[in-house]
Amino acid sequence: MAKKYEQFRCQPRLPKFAIPKRYDLKLIPDLIACKFSGTVEISIDIVADTKFIVLNAADLSVDSKSVRFQSKSESKGLEPLQVEFFEDDEILVLEFGETLALGLAVLHLSFEGTLNDQMKGFYRSSYEHNGEKKNMAVTQFEPADARRCFPCWDEPACKATFKITLEVPSELVALSNMPVLDEKVEGNIKIVQYQESPIMSTYLVAAVVGLFDYVEDQTPDGIKVRVYCQVGKANQGKFALDVAVKTLGLYKDYFETPYSLPKLDMIAIPDFAAGAMENYGLVTYRETALLYDEKHSAAANKQRVATVVAHELAHQWFGNLVTMEWWTHLWLNEGFATWVSYLAADGLFPEWKIWTQFLDESTEGLRLDGLSESHPIEVEINHAGEIDEIFDAISYRKGASVIRMLQSYLGATVFQRALAKYIKKHAGSNAKTEDLWAALEEESGEPVNKLMNSWTKQKGYPVVSVKLKDNKLEFEQVQFLSSGCEAEGQWVVPITLCCGSYEARKNFLLEKKSQTVDEASSSWIKVNVDRAGFYRVKYDEQLSAKLRSAIESKKLSPMDRYGILDDSFALSMAGQLPLSSLLTLMGAYREEPDYTVLSNLISVSSKVARIVADADNTLLDNIKMFFINLFQYSAERIGFDCKEGESHLDALLRGELFATLAVFGHEETLIEANKRFQAFLEDRNTHLLPPDIRRAVYVAVMKKVTSTDRSGLDSLLKVYRETDLSQEKTRILGALGSCSDPDIILEVLNFLLTREVRSQDVVFGLGVSREGREVAWNWFKENWEHISNTWGRGFLITRFVSALVSPFSSIEKAEEVQGFFATRGKPSIMRTLKQSLERVHINAKWLDTIRNEKGLAECVQELAYRKY
Ligand code: BES
Ligand code: ZN
Repeated sequence: MAKKYEQFRCQPRLPKFAIPKRYDLKLIPDLIACKFSGTVEISIDIVADTKFIVLNAADLSVDSKSVRFQSKSESKGLEPLQVEFFEDDEILVLEFGETLALGLAVLHLSFEGTLNDQMKGFYRSSYEHNGEKKNMAVTQFEPADARRCFPCWDEPACKATFKITLEVPSELVALSNMPVLDEKVEGNIKIVQYQESPIMSTYLVAAVVGLFDYVEDQTPDGIKVRVYCQVGKANQGKFALDVAVKTLGLYKDYFETPYSLPKLDMIAIPDFAAGAMENYGLVTYRETALLYDEKHSAAANKQRVATVVAHELAHQWFGNLVTMEWWTHLWLNEGFATWVSYLAADGLFPEWKIWTQFLDESTEGLRLDGLSESHPIEVEINHAGEIDEIFDAISYRKGASVIRMLQSYLGATVFQRALAKYIKKHAGSNAKTEDLWAALEEESGEPVNKLMNSWTKQKGYPVVSVKLKDNKLEFEQVQFLSSGCEAEGQWVVPITLCCGSYEARKNFLLEKKSQTVDEASSSWIKVNVDRAGFYRVKYDEQLSAKLRSAIESKKLSPMDRYGILDDSFALSMAGQLPLSSLLTLMGAYREEPDYTVLSNLISVSSKVARIVADADNTLLDNIKMFFINLFQYSAERIGFDCKEGESHLDALLRGELFATLAVFGHEETLIEANKRFQAFLEDRNTHLLPPDIRRAVYVAVMKKVTSTDRSGLDSLLKVYRETDLSQEKTRILGALGSCSDPDIILEVLNFLLTREVRSQDVVFGLGVSREGREVAWNWFKENWEHISNTWGRGFLITRFVSALVSPFSSIEKAEEVQGFFATRGKPSIMRTLKQSLERVHINAKWLDTIRNEKGLAECVQELAYRKY
């Protein structure tokens, strides 16, 4: 290849000779042949002397003869000497015979492409209409796939306006970011022109073409909001519509800036890789994240719809109006939208106590960031292929958690005012992390930049150990790693503490490795109040014992009870706290009333049972007995039947509680669940199987399935085939792997690869029982070719890797996995693979500690047979 082109290759970003200002884009999808053609006229500004124009394109065939450059200052148009396409770099290089005139010009290109089935770029999704299979055309451009639909400067900082035209069969609905400007019908086709958009990034451009129904409402200031869905399901859009209208109002007040487009459409897409996508004015969703069915959706589905809508609408400000300058700052989009979606959900549904539930976000952030294979929130990106993998718990959950930490440090009012100013200042433009800090620093007068750099520029977080000695509290920070290994990180830690009461608070910044604070003796001391800080706390023996009795005597807030439990679990896994101490602590939560705390207790107990299963059978039996007894109190309170007018949180709890009891093999639960399932098979409208306990019941059904009695599986598959509600389908997929029979597990896994399961949904079926994990790994290896071809071009492949690798707990297995990927690793899974392997090593070490823990068996025996 000619040397002159080398300068443009293997570069993370495009050269800035030309700046795009406006795209006039026309797309003509062919839904039958699954192809599309298009033309684009890009108004550009040539800002440096060059003979080259370099822009992005991928999987497109650009007609070289169609390329024209027309400078505003010169009358004659230029044809390029050469049009070179570099597939690996996803760039198109246009070389002209002369230096291009500086200033404004128009670049014209025609192109063709395939409506692919990879759920990215311009793709096809399928649905049934009156018993007939049909295709729809959908776009998904984030992070870097607009280039698969039209040639463009596909970087978030290259903002331009978009004037879009779609040419489609006249009976179909065609949507884009903006409202329709003009529509012309010519025979069977219609040409729909949309209004020109405000300035925006390419990854937010969208178009959808297919058959849809909709429901509609308006905000008080006249913005038209619609929810589009499958024909006949419009009623299922009403809940999301209501949430959207209210949320727009809430954000308008919070950001002191109105929603910036004249309309907002939200649409359910049957095949969709992520959960939802915030395209400006045309937000796309998985069906499960947008549609709510009064009769068949569970409370968990309802909450999911509300939080996903709130998240995507937050992006209309944080992301769409103000966009990250480069993917390094992705967390500004995702961490912020995650945090603010809780603010909205709390405003709309205060009874959900969503801020307590937020702690699960922090927990997942802490879990990933406790690996040495984690990455800083601000992460260097050198190639488009690396972007997908950073849509992870660090960008979303750690990101959201450090924002919550900062808000609680600065105060809610100052924080809100600074954000509103930041949005106004950068509206229609791009921003970096330091721009946000600058706005907060200015409003609060606090050294935000200094405080936050330690959290966003280095990976990991500290565990702060607290010791009480001679009326002094000693604080010391050390980086926390789940492996128990040592590391060097140091942070500026906002320490908060309560001493014996929530009125007696202290706080300070721990800027060094250690610090001492005076303390007259209190009945208990809780550090990291409400777990607002992104760190863990380790107490000495004496302080721990005091906290345990404070929990039992109901002195602590739900968030603090949660934090103590979760930190103890993490410390135990890392070999810093004996398992017996963790179990004894768990015993203090028997009468726990709070949903989120119980939910964490459930999750901790499942993980403990899982590792112990690899250690010793008697120990496992006793631990399960202890857990079953521990949950008995709540199980009796909540019961199998939903109560008239019960709370949302009770409904959530019921499902999780009974699913876990079923996994632990609690006989009464299994019998009751199977009885109810029979009633359901006889009458789909039975009141005995409301949506909130369906997953639990399906898990219980699968627990009873064996190769010789497979009726439960067959019945579940029958229900799967019958339903047209995605939430029901994913509920069933999520339960199928709970069986202990390896042959059945294999059958279930093979079912996942049939046409009956949409490729977006396979990941729900990958969580298999411990007895199934070996079969699942072998199945994965045998089907690698197919799996890699089907899911390898998107981020869903990483879910296979983490789901199938992380459950193991032996070094030998880690080596085998590594061996398998030695020749099969690709950049898009490397980060996940390394993280999953690290988890296997952590499990192995944890298992070893458990096997060697003195007195554990006796302690568990005592707990298991304790009478309450
Ligand atoms: N911007 C993302 C969608 C996305 C994810 C695009 C990954 C490309 C790659 C969207 O705003 C998002 O975050 N969606 C979440 C749901 C949200 C409620 C956490 C998702 O898809 O899981
Ligand atoms: Zn998002």
